[in-house]
Amino acid sequence: MTVNSIGVVGAGQMGNGIAHVMALAGYDVVLNDISKDALDRATDLIGRNMDRQVSREKITQDERDQAMGRIVTTQDLPHVAGTDLIIEAATEQETIKQKIFDSLLPHLAEHTILTSNTSSISITRLASRTDRPEKFMGFHFMNPVPVMQLVELIRGIATDKQTYETCLGVVEKLGKTAASAEDFPAFIVNRILMPMINEAVYTLYEGVGNVNSIDQSMKLGANHPMGPLELADFIGLDTCLAIMNVLHDGLADTKYRPCPLLTKYVEAGWLGRKTQRGFYDYRGDVPVPTR
Ligand SMILES: NC(=O)c1ccc[n+]([C@@H]2O[C@H](COP(=O)([O-])OP(=O)(O)OC[C@H]3O[C@@H](n4cnc5c(N)ncnc54)[C@H](O)[C@@H]3O)[C@@H](O)[C@H]2O)c1
Repeated sequence: MTVNSIGVVGAGQMGNGIAHVMALAGYDVVLNDISKDALDRATDLIGRNMDRQVSREKITQDERDQAMGRIVTTQDLPHVAGTDLIIEAATEQETIKQKIFDSLLPHLAEHTILTSNTSSISITRLASRTDRPEKFMGFHFMNPVPVMQLVELIRGIATDKQTYETCLGVVEKLGKTAASAEDFPAFIVNRILMPMINEAVYTLYEGVGNVNSIDQSMKLGANHPMGPLELADFIGLDTCLAIMNVLHDGLADTKYRPCPLLTKYVEAGWLGRKTQRGFYDYRGDVPVPTR
């Protein structure tokens, strides 16, 4: 199957990155969000990120202008339904994702492949509620999308070979590398990464170290490019908590119990960079640790 157009549902940090790389690769993109603000912010950010690529001579001005011209934004979900491949990248809550697929179904073209950028939720379960579980799979980008090389491709129990190969072709056209993961909670990257981040929050909660000493220890002692708390702020603490809950519920093992301090930050609305405050406060010139 040939893919010419991509629908992206959710224009947050992942959705705008996905629209960015798809448009640069030559796909027509329809980007949807319930929030007009999110769509405006996404268009602005994609433009600025592409400008940076032009100034670094990664792309030409002409490529930038053509790519921007391929992106259409809409608050009207059915507008996305006619595209060849839909990537759902809305908030990490199963009920939100289910509602999006329920609303899309009556409008979908027969050939349209449905995918989710979920970090953790069962692809098989999301697929089972649609009319096309064989044309449904996980298409999991890493953050920030224009920079990160990996895409996890997750087949649900019913995903057919053609769907997998079509998605693999799209990943290759993006110049990225696919890793095939089985459909178990949080797949590969987050199954390993999130318990480490959660453990870093426990280390903070128990007073073993403060924000600075924990991040510095893992940067200088384990050669990680970012400390785990800095990375958690970058991902979004709500997303981290949602993934820990999926691991805890899905694998029924207490080792995945979300740290109460992570829950407290989310309850405070301190979700990390996207709300200007998390384990660091980003409202000034330099990030200041909040503990
Ligand atoms: N943040 C990361 O590092 C990361 C990495 C890989 C995958 N993901 C996954 O990508 C998805 C999005 O995460 P994010 O970090 O971009 O979140 P985000 O909070 O930045 O953005 C979510 C967007 O979804 C929109 N939205 C909510 N309900 C909607 C609806 N019904 N229809 C359309 N849009 C709706 C919101 O308005 C918001 O703009 C999640 O499933 C997350 O697990 C996140």
